Amino acid sequence: ATSTPADDRVPDMGKRELMNLLLLGALSLPTAGMLVPYTYFFVPSGLGGGGGGTVAKDALGNDIVAEQWLKTHGPGDRTLSQGLKGDPTYLVVEKDKTLATYGINAVCTHLGCVVPWNQAEKKFICPCHGSQYNDQGRVVRGPAPLSLALAHCDVDDGKVIFVPWVETDFRTGDDPWWS
Ligand code: FES
Repeated sequence: ATSTPADDRVPDMGKRELMNLLLLGALSLPTAGMLVPYTYFFVPSGLGGGGGGTVAKDALGNDIVAEQWLKTHGPGDRTLSQGLKGDPTYLVVEKDKTLATYGINAVCTHLGCVVPWNQAEKKFICPCHGSQYNDQGRVVRGPAPLSLALAHCDVDDGKVIFVPWVETDFRTGDDPWWS
């Protein structure tokens, strides 16, 4: 990208300048190319090594501390937090008052509305076109074609952490469509 303004000046440039430019290009191209595998290699291994992932944030943007959360969110609770890539993600409290090991991405798989939890119906019901998902986010009524995405939900140093879910979707037995 930095070579674009220089391209306009190529006809006026001395031979040495041109050679330098070509040399620079030859050096920087492979360098740029090497960044891709570098990033690709290190990001996933960082996540898998513990201490990775994204700290879940509450509505105020504060890190969510599991113990605090469970004091104010009872069994069966599903409340939105900010998850991976900032996606609205439900934290699930199990019947035994522990946090579920999965979070549910609230973005409707139809056209992307944020799907609210309906405590009375024990379902996620999309206000946009009526899609429904069960209490684990598995689609039970269209037009949504797919279940809500999952994220792993771990507790690290007291804080709630989301980690990308790349394994089989335990609700359907299928490969995850979102990863
Ligand atoms: Fe949810 Fe259409 S966006 S049903």
